[in-house]
Amino acid sequence: MLERLVYRSKATDDMSSLMLFNLLAQARQKNGALNITGHLIYDGEYFTQWVEGPAESLDALWTSLLKDDRHCEVMLISRTPAEERRFAFWTMAFSSYSSLNSYNMPGFFPIDRENVSEQIRKLTD
Ligand SMILES: Cc1cc2nc3c(=O)[nH]c(=O)nc-3n(C[C@H](O)[C@H](O)[C@H](O)COP(=O)(O)O)c2cc1C
Repeated sequence: MLERLVYRSKATDDMSSLMLFNLLAQARQKNGALNITGHLIYDGEYFTQWVEGPAESLDALWTSLLKDDRHCEVMLISRTPAEERRFAFWTMAFSSYSSLNSYNMPGFFPIDRENVSEQIRKLTD
């Protein structure tokens, strides 16, 4: 059954463009295999992530996420059944400040400091 999961976590380091590029490349490769889609936002301090896919895939990802030392204070916000995907086209869309997209990654949707809270609210509400 299709489910969606939303969480927030704190980055353990200041994430650079390279760190984010590598994180997204790894996430997208595995998400493709797990049939997971979603959207990740990095606001310079916290990650907020919406992931959607089969329940077993979300279980596997959650186990991996909890072991990942690139972030801490991982807090589940919601996990619910989903009728359809909201981010069907993205193995993981990504939003952050343009200054953190030095490698021009695909599926990047820039945010700025004025609208970051609004973007996060859209994912978590
Ligand atoms: C903020 C954040 C978001 C992540 N998002 C994903 C993701 O969407 N999919 C994924 O496979 N890994 C994601 N990862 C990486 C996983 O935590 C983990 O390193 C990766 O899945 C490999 O885990 P494994 O060694 O248990 O297979 C994310 C890591 C962080 C810090």
